[in-house]
Amino acid sequence: MKYGFFDNDNREYVITRPDVPAPWTNYLGTEKFCTVISHNAGGYSFYNSPEYNRVTKFRPNGTFDRPGHYVYLRDDETGDYWSISWQPVAKSLEEASYEVRHGLSYSKFKCEYNGITAQKTLFVPKGEDAQIWDVKIKNDGDKPRTISAFSFVEFSFSHIQSDNQNHQMSLYSAGTSYNDGVIEYDLYYNTNDYEGFYYMASSFDPDSYDGQRDSFLGMYRDEANPIAVENGRCSNHVQTCYNHCGSLHKQFVIQPGEEVRFVFLLGIGKGEGQRLRAKYQDMANVDAAFAAIKGHWDERCNKFQVTSPNEGLDTMINAWTLYQAETCVVWSRFASFIEVGGRTGLGYRDTAQDAISVPHANPHMTRKRLVDLLRGQVKEGYGLHLFDPDWFDPEKADVKPSKSPTVVPTPSDEDKIHGIEDTCSDDHLWIVPTIINYIQETGEESFLDEMIPYANGGDASVYEHMKAALDFSAEYVGQTGICKGLRADWNDCLNLGGGESAMTSFLHFWALQEFIQLAKYKGQEADVQKYTEMAANLREACEKHLWDDEGGWYIRGLTKDGDKIGTAQQAEGRVHLESNTLAVLSGLASQERGEKAMDAVDENLYCEYGLHLNSPSFATPNDDIGFVTRVYQGVKENGAIFSHPNPWAWVAETKLGRGDRAMKFYDALNPFNQNDMIEKRVAEPYSYVQFIMGRDHENHGRANHPWLTGTSGWAYFAVTNFILGVQTGFDGLIVDPCIPTSWPGFEVRREWRDATYNIKVENPNSVSKGVKSITLNGETVEGAIPAQAAGSVNEVVVVLG
Ligand code: GLC
Repeated sequence: MKYGFFDNDNREYVITRPDVPAPWTNYLGTEKFCTVISHNAGGYSFYNSPEYNRVTKFRPNGTFDRPGHYVYLRDDETGDYWSISWQPVAKSLEEASYEVRHGLSYSKFKCEYNGITAQKTLFVPKGEDAQIWDVKIKNDGDKPRTISAFSFVEFSFSHIQSDNQNHQMSLYSAGTSYNDGVIEYDLYYNTNDYEGFYYMASSFDPDSYDGQRDSFLGMYRDEANPIAVENGRCSNHVQTCYNHCGSLHKQFVIQPGEEVRFVFLLGIGKGEGQRLRAKYQDMANVDAAFAAIKGHWDERCNKFQVTSPNEGLDTMINAWTLYQAETCVVWSRFASFIEVGGRTGLGYRDTAQDAISVPHANPHMTRKRLVDLLRGQVKEGYGLHLFDPDWFDPEKADVKPSKSPTVVPTPSDEDKIHGIEDTCSDDHLWIVPTIINYIQETGEESFLDEMIPYANGGDASVYEHMKAALDFSAEYVGQTGICKGLRADWNDCLNLGGGESAMTSFLHFWALQEFIQLAKYKGQEADVQKYTEMAANLREACEKHLWDDEGGWYIRGLTKDGDKIGTAQQAEGRVHLESNTLAVLSGLASQERGEKAMDAVDENLYCEYGLHLNSPSFATPNDDIGFVTRVYQGVKENGAIFSHPNPWAWVAETKLGRGDRAMKFYDALNPFNQNDMIEKRVAEPYSYVQFIMGRDHENHGRANHPWLTGTSGWAYFAVTNFILGVQTGFDGLIVDPCIPTSWPGFEVRREWRDATYNIKVENPNSVSKGVKSITLNGETVEGAIPAQAAGSVNEVVVVLG
């Protein structure tokens, strides 16, 4: 069953049936003001932090998908009313037709009902902390129509906790006022005139308004049947205390064929409502702001465009996967539609991985994130698992967070900097390849010498920070020389403590390989030697202690008592995705062991929706292994198709030269391929999800937690760099694809260091891997393609064979 389609020309997903089995969401905003919005216009806005600067309220994890950012229309001759989004009024789909277009940083809602075509486009203009609702109402009939339009949002008490608990202080310390077309909402306890002020404004002069939620909705009613809309007029009620909303109303007489257009504005900052109201009364400014958002994404997407025989791959890589990856880089993991979103800051490992995927599209943000992460590293080498980058930003460190009744604490140093007992064994290692990838993309080698303080004191260059990370993992090893698992490794629920993690050791090996390349390039001979030896010792320990000969795969680790996890002898948790894929991805496994390990992955973990994290799932609690054994079978980290490490398998297969297998795994997880089975998938087909229920769960195939998952960054990195094989080196562009044998070739347009490369890959002999020849502008090239002059457009032909 399907509910919509991909419109690739416009980079939009078009929902044609609004009764989707779950809200399908989008993220609006490219800077500080963000809105998470569903195809029903349910959702919320926040400024900077989804935890303590929430602008509008939302009740997460319910079946209502409410409240939201709504426009109601009312036929003032009959009293009939509806909403431009299907919800909340929800006209019958027999009488009304709805279409939603989720685009990159905007969502367009369209409704045709009773001779009226209405549209609203929501987006956050660049440079403003506000959201524009561009509304158009057209009379399709042959008689004049009298139509009232109302906006509605429910203002938040700013802190997520206050919203959930209706905290006394919030109920009695916030109020609305109305001033010349603008409803202002003042969080009285918040002394900051910017963050503590929200508003709803419009380009028209309102006929009536409401600032009190209960006046607008009416008692014992809800967003589906607000009394104000039913009456055709708001109550002009604003006051201090209780719950607040922003509703502005205007009546229009619309002639046959005529279209009226106006905007609503939702934003923050005292006086800002008036300023924006004046600015966006001119619709040319609205159009320019929208064009700027389009341009923002055209610029990013155009850095890498592919045309291949796989339509789903092209659709996702050319727009959606990059878009999702950037969303994660910008908002990390906490602005969720599913969970409360009551957190702020960065997850160390999450951001360190996300940032590997977008240095070409957003070098500025990638660099900022790297600096954030390096400031969140302690001098012992590990990273602070969860932290707010503002804590360690010298420009912000002394700025106290705004006062709030639910307390936004300024943590003490002890609260900020946790010790080894709370340290995850993988966090710090991910920054090494990410930094190197950033330098290869931008050529900014001086970044390596930049001095950045550690979270717990002392300065070091970026290069030294990387060494500290590698050294930490070399030091914190168990008896066998394998890295200790500590609080967890990448898998939050594998809590090995003093036990040992195969995954972390393989990751360590990968980081070492990347670093050795860098040290060689920089002529750091002593480091080349030191880290080459470290890698050799590690490889020996891994091959000796982690290979399960009987099964023909790598185990997942050892408990603190030395019991192996993931052997052929075990009935539960026998084969694991993370260890086997990283053993190969890192280059540690030999071709022979690598092929065996990945064959075991295919045989034991593959299904039509992707690769399971482990199989069979754990059924017996065992606290020496961790919380994973207490999660229901087939769910999340216990035997679900956990999406994030799936791309590690695609990369691993490309390292082995098996392009058909890499594509089989890619296609299975690709949401595009599940567009016509939404009865199973439920979640958005344009977004990777955190996990899909595994075969040990009755809802096998159901996808959960869209958007905020490291899958997107990894999927993008794996496809562009390893399947399509277009990689940046220190001094050249490398093209080394690994594709299905059936592909006759593909084309990539890549912008790199201000030059354009039109790359045509030909596969006359139906191979997967192996470059026979490369020409650059007609001249033969051996190895990497040297960086070309800024502004140049270059033709590259690569023949496989
Ligand atoms: C979640 C976390 C991520 C972790 C993964 C596996 O996605 O955000 O940090 O690696 O789960 O446990």
